[in-house]
Order: sequence, then C-alpha cells, then structure tokens
Amino acid sequence: MSKRFYTTTAIYYVNSAPHIGSAQEAVIADVIARYQRMKRDGVHFLTGTDENATKVFEAAKAQGKEPRAFVDEVAAVFKNVFDRMHIAYDDFIRTTEPRHIAAVQEAFRRLRDAGHIYQGSYEGWYDVQTETFYKESDLVDGKSPEGNEVRWVQENNYFFRLSAFQDRLLSHIEANPQFIQPEVRRNEVLAFIRQGLRDACISRSASGWGIPVPDDESQVIYVWFDALINYISAIGWPDGDWKSYWPAEMQLVGKDILVRFHSTLWPAMLMGLGLPLPDVLLGHAWTMMGEEKISKSRGNVVAPLDLAQTLVDRGACGIELAVDAVRYYMMRIAPYETDSTFTFEDFDLKFNSELVNDISNGVHRVVSMLHSFCEGSIPMAEPDAEVVKRTLHDLHVPTFANGLDLYRVDSAVKAADAIAAELNVYIDREKPWDLRKTDPPRLQAVMVTMAYLVRTLEGCLRPFTPAIADRIAALLGQEPLLKLDQLGRTDSFKRGVKAAKAEPLLMRIEKSAEKEVKKMEETQEDLISIEQFSKIKLRIARVLDAHKVENADKLLRLELVVGSERRQVLAGIAQQYSPEELVGRQVVLVANLQPRKLRGFESQGMILAADAEDGGAILLMPDKPAPEGTSVH
Ligand code: ME8
Ligand code: MG
Repeated sequence: MSKRFYTTTAIYYVNSAPHIGSAQEAVIADVIARYQRMKRDGVHFLTGTDENATKVFEAAKAQGKEPRAFVDEVAAVFKNVFDRMHIAYDDFIRTTEPRHIAAVQEAFRRLRDAGHIYQGSYEGWYDVQTETFYKESDLVDGKSPEGNEVRWVQENNYFFRLSAFQDRLLSHIEANPQFIQPEVRRNEVLAFIRQGLRDACISRSASGWGIPVPDDESQVIYVWFDALINYISAIGWPDGDWKSYWPAEMQLVGKDILVRFHSTLWPAMLMGLGLPLPDVLLGHAWTMMGEEKISKSRGNVVAPLDLAQTLVDRGACGIELAVDAVRYYMMRIAPYETDSTFTFEDFDLKFNSELVNDISNGVHRVVSMLHSFCEGSIPMAEPDAEVVKRTLHDLHVPTFANGLDLYRVDSAVKAADAIAAELNVYIDREKPWDLRKTDPPRLQAVMVTMAYLVRTLEGCLRPFTPAIADRIAALLGQEPLLKLDQLGRTDSFKRGVKAAKAEPLLMRIEKSAEKEVKKMEETQEDLISIEQFSKIKLRIARVLDAHKVENADKLLRLELVVGSERRQVLAGIAQQYSPEELVGRQVVLVANLQPRKLRGFESQGMILAADAEDGGAILLMPDKPAPEGTSVH
C-alpha cells in the first residue's frame, strides 16, 4: 500500500482516568484523522497509554493494587471513554504489550551498538510527576520548574548522547519551518536547544516495574525513552510494514512535553536509529480551569462523559449527540498559541447559542418547511449561485478545509456555525412562507438553497460531531456526506427524496451545568468501591482487661487480644459499660487505624459501636464466638 497519512497523540499515563483537558488532545487528533479520511484512503490514527512510569507504579501501590491489574483496569477506562467519545483511533498501543517491549529493547540495542549510548553515573534530581531528570540549577525554590517535589537520585545509568545531535537538530528545525508548530513553540524549542543540550539519562535502577535494559537486569529503560518508541513500535518497526506509515505527517502533543521530549530527545533518537523525522510536531497549549491547568494532580478535573451526561439530564438530547456537543465545545476552545479556559457558563452559552440556536434550529426550520411547503422532499431546482459561490469558493468550505489542512481545528470548527448563521439569515430574508403565495418558482430555488446549506453544514460538522452529522443527513433523507470533494457541491445531495419527520436535534438548556456536575460528583463521592471498603481491616478481638481512665468520665482503656497480637484501645463507652462487664467479651476492632494518643495513652485502633439515641454507645459483638483475629466484612 502507498504511504498512509499517519497521526499520533501523546500516550496517556494511566495514573487516572481521562479528563476534558487530556481527552481534548485525542479529540483534536480524531478530528484531523476524520478529515483526512474525507480526503483519502489509508489514514492511520494512533493513540494509547504510557504504563511503565514510576508514577503509574506508585499510583497502583497507593490504591493497594497489583501494578499489572491496575494498568489493565485504567487502560480499559481510557479505551472505553475514547470509544464513547467517538474517538475513532485505528490502533491503541499500550506500552506493556510485547510488541512494544520488543521494539524498545531493539531500539536500545541498536543505539548502543552504534555508540550513541554509554554508561555513566547519574547524580541529580528526579520529578516523578513529570518523569523528568533535573539538575540542581534547574530547580526553583527546591522544586522542579513545574513546581513538583523532586527526589535525589544517584545511580549508575545509561546515557544517550543527545548533545551530539544538537547541531543536526538545530539545522533541521531551521531548514523546516513547518516542523514545530505553532511558531511560539518553535521559538521555545530553538531557545532551549541553543542553550545547550545535555546527554540524557535513559535508564533507572530496576524497581520491578518497567522494560529491562537488554543484557543488564539491574536497570530498566527510562520511561520517556520507552514511551517515545510507541510511535514506531505500534506500526511494526523494525520488522513489520512500518515504512508505509513512517514518517508521521503530524504528531500532536501538549506544550509541556514538546521541548524536552518531542522536539529534542525524540528526533535525536530517530536520527540515531537512521529514521526520518516526522513532518510536523504540533504542540498545543492547555485547557485551564480558572488559573490552573486541568490535571489529576490538581484534582480540578471534569470527566468528558459526565459533562455530556449533564446535557442528557437537562433534556437537551440523548447521550450520542451530547458527546458530540462536548467534542464541539472542546474544539471551539482548543488551545493553540495560548491556553484557554473551561467554564461551565461558557459551555452552556456556546451550546445554546451555536449548537441549538444556530445549528439545530437552522436545520429544524429547513426540514419543517420542506414538509409544510414541498410535500416533504427537496425540490428539483438549483441553489442560488451567489450562495454557492460564497460557500464553496469564498468562505465556508475554505475555512473548513484550509483550517484542517493546517491542523487548525480551532479555526476550522467555526465554519459550521457560520454556515448555520448564514442559513438563518437567508431564511429570514427570503421568507419562504410568503413566497409560497407570491412566487412559487422562487420558493423552489430558495428551498433547495436552504437544503444545500444544511447539506454543507453536515459536511463541515462531520469530523467534529459525527453523530450530529449523521442525524442531519438522515433528517434530509440523504446518505452521509463522506468525501471532501462532495462538500459544498450542488450535486452533493439528492432531490426528490423524502426528508425525515421534523424533529429538533437539540433542545435549549436552562439549568446550569455546574450544578449538575457537582451533584454528580457528590453522589459519586458518597459511594465507595468495594476495593476502598476492603482497605478497612475489621477483626474480632477479645477484651482481656478494662480500666477507667483518670479524669476522663467517658473513656475506658481496653486491653484486647487479636489473633496473636495485643492491642490497647481507648473507647468512649465508660458511661454505658463498666470495666467488669466487658472483660471476656468479644468486640469488633478496626485494626489498621493510625494509632493516636488520648490522655497520655496510645489508642491502637477503634472498636465498633452503634450510636444510641441518648448519645451513648451500643457495642457490636459477634452473634456467636469467633476465634480472635477473624476478619469481618
Ligand atoms: O505526558 N489541557 O502523559 P499525560 C490540554 N505519558 N492538554 C492536556 C491537559 C490539559 N489540561 N492535561 C493533559 C504524558 N494534557 C506522557 C506522554 S508521549 C510519548 C508520553 C495533555 O497523561 C498533555 O499535554 O500527562 C499530553 O500531551 C497528554 O495530555 C498526555 O498527558
Ligand atoms: Mg501530564
């Protein structure tokens, strides 16, 4: 097969589920891939997950899970969310897959054999949050430049001779102005390289997680070296059909990982492997929530499907179209040069004003009038030449196609609303309801012009909102418009076929999304998973001895036996129970509570009691004796 159009996203750390900031990147790439599929065959869109990171390993441990099971679980969440968000990737790579591991080790071997890798000792700081090595002078107030905690690392490691590629990198970037986009990012990269590149540490001492360095079990490959290889491991490098994919036409990543990784380490690795460089590295900016980047570590995340569900709950539409509405909004605020800010108000505002008032109402008016004035089908006439000229040649189709050819979803997405706005103005000006009586032949031309604009609107929405586009095609009684060379053409739709029943695509929303999301989050917070519950270790214990605590009317100090262990617990039950009546009884102990001091005594756990109406306590005891130490669930 001839060379495919190949595009990629960054691969996601599986330390948490996707949020509207990270999913936005996958939607941008999806829109570009869908647009390319309108132009040609052989489009390949890759996304996936970055699973060998220390931060992923630590996230698993923090949840008390086996790393393997944890990454399987979170990778499945990513896939599921992407599928439900209509992200039509052609391949989803996971860096724990054998196909990836083999390619990473082979890349390491080849670079080592070619003399690009050497052994040395590393001493410096490591930021686990961004998985980045920093030297002392990079730190700002003892933290990484991103403001994260750093750890001191001193290891014998492998190094990649990044410094040796500095001049070749510079001349490539200078000779290829399209290589790094947008311009602001290109300038940042140039400044970073000109300041001098250091060799890159590309291994860590083995911690039981990660891809082993070939022929050296004491080390695992540094997660960034490993992760970057995904772009070629997924397409079958080195032994498969990778040449019909590589070099990628466009690699999309966030600005946070452009300078240090995708514009320096990655192209240098490719040069070292004798591979061509991608055509374009596009570094988008961030979506913020107030002053802060939306990110899991900041805890300010909104899940894209929750946001879609707020539309469903507010009666705007079903989930399929709601997901598309979220995609539309993400593209409307897609950050290129500068960061953009997500707000619930703006989401609601753009939904009502663009998707409902302009687009949905425009389509609905046309379909309704086809039924009222034309017996439900598009008349056999030609659309107004002047409208066609502006749509096809001067304005809307060029906005759409030129924007997407340049990977600018932010400008291309505006074509749809502009067509819808023009359609509504056209209807108001031409007044089909009057023409019906005054000029029936003109009515035919006007109705067909309206249908033409709806058809073109469908095409311009297609990569952004595929489900909404399908619905518009169905309303007009047409097959979906799938090819770019059909877009804006007067023969892109059939006359004489019946339009579907006129039903609005989307309904206006009145209630605010913010309240809806908060409500959803609250109900989610109230619920804990079985895994969370199982972290609480409940055990049967027997009271060996019990004492009053001096100067504390309510407290008893209990000595408990739990299995082979002794525990001292302070319990606020002195007013309901005397020490004598407790000795010998069995109780239920929370065995893994952090110890704390009360009245000079350490309390090593808590015994369970129900709240009595008078504010007292009713001790829980097993229904029949159970061996001390037995678990309770
Ligand atoms: O960096 N707005 O993974 P990641 C826009 N595994 N984009 C955002 C964003 C936001 N609020 N938050 C995250 C990694 N992103 C590495 C990549 S590639 C070989 C390895 C983007 O899960 C971010 O910029 O932290 C990045 O491009 C992508 O989501 C994955 O981020
Ligand atoms: Mg990140």
